[in-house]
Amino acid sequence: MPVIPGEEIGGAGLGNGSVHDSGCNASSQSGKLCMSRHTNVRGRHESFTSWMSRCVVMTKLEEFGPEIWIASGPQVTAALGFNYPTRMAVIRLADGELFVWSPVALSDELKTELASLGSVRHLVTPNSLHDLFIASWKQAYPEARLYAAPGLQQKRRDLAFDAEVTDEAILPWTSEIAHIVMAGNVITTEVVFFHAKSGTVLFTDLLQQFPPRWFRGWRALIAKWDLMLAFEPSVPRKFRLAFTDRKAARAAAERLLSWPAEKVLMAHGTPVRTDGRAFLKRAFRWLTR
Ligand SMILES: [Fe+2]
Repeated sequence: MPVIPGEEIGGAGLGNGSVHDSGCNASSQSGKLCMSRHTNVRGRHESFTSWMSRCVVMTKLEEFGPEIWIASGPQVTAALGFNYPTRMAVIRLADGELFVWSPVALSDELKTELASLGSVRHLVTPNSLHDLFIASWKQAYPEARLYAAPGLQQKRRDLAFDAEVTDEAILPWTSEIAHIVMAGNVITTEVVFFHAKSGTVLFTDLLQQFPPRWFRGWRALIAKWDLMLAFEPSVPRKFRLAFTDRKAARAAAERLLSWPAEKVLMAHGTPVRTDGRAFLKRAFRWLTR
């Protein structure tokens, strides 16, 4: 198994809610405040007071747009000890059923909030690296259907998936949430989603951004090389290099750039809340130019 930052291999054991919305200093603990400044998506530093006010733990669902919510879970520790914040999203479909994307560790608080929104019916693992908590969600919601990104079923033979999210798949949410498979990457095959009602594109690991002081020492050097500390969310260098089928990747990128995106979510990074399409054009210029 390749050793790469971004591949979550175990929980950090910090407990629910140890990570806030966009990630802060890796040494922060649940309920404490961060001590570092933060760079927003436009590259400007927020004031320290503003940053601290947002840096308290967020375990509750936050409304991100019409019929879409986000929540942060505990940090996870990836290969080589890289700590990652985690984020999930919940979309309420027209029939009231909930589409849960990249689920984080499930807490009683989260379960209570979800119950007030609707019925958890679709558990979606958007790439083969974000499967840490999927089994516990299936246990908590046995009626929910499990959906796997390409490649995950081979990895998680302990789980009975209901469907694989291929490019051709017509799924219960397809009329409300489009998807594109970013094929041809040797690290993982990621499925990118677009929720039309909120204009939100959902990325998992293909876009990332960490605060400048999140990593320390040699990990910070690697993270900088990997473009994980850029002034706005970027496609990490390792993922760029791992697209061995550039033609397929370019075709997929051009398709997703046609979406009328207003917002962009990612599992590890500051959400982009305006001008999403323009942001995505910048983020994928290395591939489409
Ligand atoms: Fe990840």
